Amino acid sequence: MSYAAYVFDAYGTLFDVHAAVRRHAGAIGPDGQAFSDHWRAKQLEYSWIRTLMGAYTDFWTLTEQALDHAFARFPSADPAVKADLLEAYWHLDCYPEVPGVLKNLKERGARIAILSNGTPDMLQSAVKKAGLDLVIDDIFSVDAVGAFKTAPAVYDMVTTRYRLYPDAVSFQSSNRWDVAGATKFGFRTVWVNRGNMPDEYRDFGPSLILPSLESL
Ligand code: LAC
Repeated sequence: MSYAAYVFDAYGTLFDVHAAVRRHAGAIGPDGQAFSDHWRAKQLEYSWIRTLMGAYTDFWTLTEQALDHAFARFPSADPAVKADLLEAYWHLDCYPEVPGVLKNLKERGARIAILSNGTPDMLQSAVKKAGLDLVIDDIFSVDAVGAFKTAPAVYDMVTTRYRLYPDAVSFQSSNRWDVAGATKFGFRTVWVNRGNMPDEYRDFGPSLILPSLESL
């Protein structure tokens, strides 16, 4: 079965968000993984709460605010590394299978896009640094609608621009909550369960669960 468009979440799905912290593990100390998880959890919490409040602020600002909270929560991490951690967000590593998988799908004639909470600048920079700029046709940022995932208006950007029905779009995300939002919208969804996490949001389940993008 092939789809007219393959649309990918960015952070955690194409790009490794914990790579930034790993790169500076020495300065962060023994709480590295907890620090990184906290940073990510707060970044997402802020996106959901602000969308519910109707108080959108771009993802870059939320990423910085969440990092400040992580430093406050883990005093053993050296705040001198803050600028480096933020800077790393602009050139995160992509997962090793990503370039080959995207290239294959593109050669089969599908449109390849990113749909992400990130700002257009953050996404363009990460895509370019990872060498994915030739294979990705479009970058859809939530910035255009002023609301974060899982607002239906976010997923609707893709179907409106491509003039496709939702079920002609295959959406891939490692974030189970994002898969729930995309399933509710009507996309065919693939949960890339990189962390081998238990299932949730069972009333909005994916069509397919994969351990990585390898066998897409
Ligand atoms: C994104 C977040 C959910 O890229 O990872 O949209």
